[in-house]
Amino acid sequence: MRCMRLRNIPEAKGIVEASPYVIHDPMAMRGKWASFSGKPLFLEVGTGKGRFIMELAARHPENEYIGIERYESVLYRACEKMAGKKAHDPASLMEEDARKEEEVPFKAPANLHFIRMDAAALPEVFAPGEVAGLYLNFSDPWPKARHAKRRLTSRTFLAIYEKILADGGILEFKTDNRDLFDFSLEEIAESPGWLLLARTTDLHRDVVMNAENILTEYERKFSALGNKICKLIALYEADI
Ligand SMILES: C[S@@+](CC[C@H](N)C(=O)[O-])C[C@H]1O[C@@H](n2cnc3c(N)ncnc32)[C@H](O)[C@@H]1O
Repeated sequence: MRCMRLRNIPEAKGIVEASPYVIHDPMAMRGKWASFSGKPLFLEVGTGKGRFIMELAARHPENEYIGIERYESVLYRACEKMAGKKAHDPASLMEEDARKEEEVPFKAPANLHFIRMDAAALPEVFAPGEVAGLYLNFSDPWPKARHAKRRLTSRTFLAIYEKILADGGILEFKTDNRDLFDFSLEEIAESPGWLLLARTTDLHRDVVMNAENILTEYERKFSALGNKICKLIALYEADI
């Protein structure tokens, strides 16, 4: 898997800043997220253009969802899609999928928002126990050993998630990068409090784990190339 190629999109900043779907002062909500909707709160970290979390939020109105994305140049696409504007990247969708998306009018789920921020700052936005679960999809692999700490499944980031997750909170991670997947399994095994609940190295052929699967943009692209998709589910409990 390769990292997303970032382009400079001059209008992205303005679109993100004006979007009603973006929480613009998230630090002010720290410790008060229960008052946001009263629903259990789930985050996707590195949400990209937001396809996965839009579908997840639509399927689960009983929960609240927030997509965390570092770059405006990516997040503005999610904002446009939420606003009902054509926001898909024709290069990232197969033609047939692009046609289907145009035919079905999009309705923004009321239980979904976005925050533009770096995942390293999550504890500045969420107080201990405020987050019920986390999704990481096709996170950047950072293949060089000296960059291992930047991987979103490194023990460095697991320690960050521990600061915001509720007891019994869930982490779900998908990737087509086998090295990153094996690394992630090791980091979970080495981190106290984390328990691996399920894993597969061929998600789309795993009847149980694939049952409710929602394809992300990257998952669609890489599985079309024949790459197998790996997935793990882990639970965090301080007393394990
Ligand atoms: C490879 S893309 C995957 C996008 C999407 N999850 C998918 O599966 O299609 C990874 C995304 O994570 C974002 N990202 C990477 N590191 C991040 C961080 N530390 N904090 C927030 N977002 C991050 C990148 O900007 C990029 O949009």
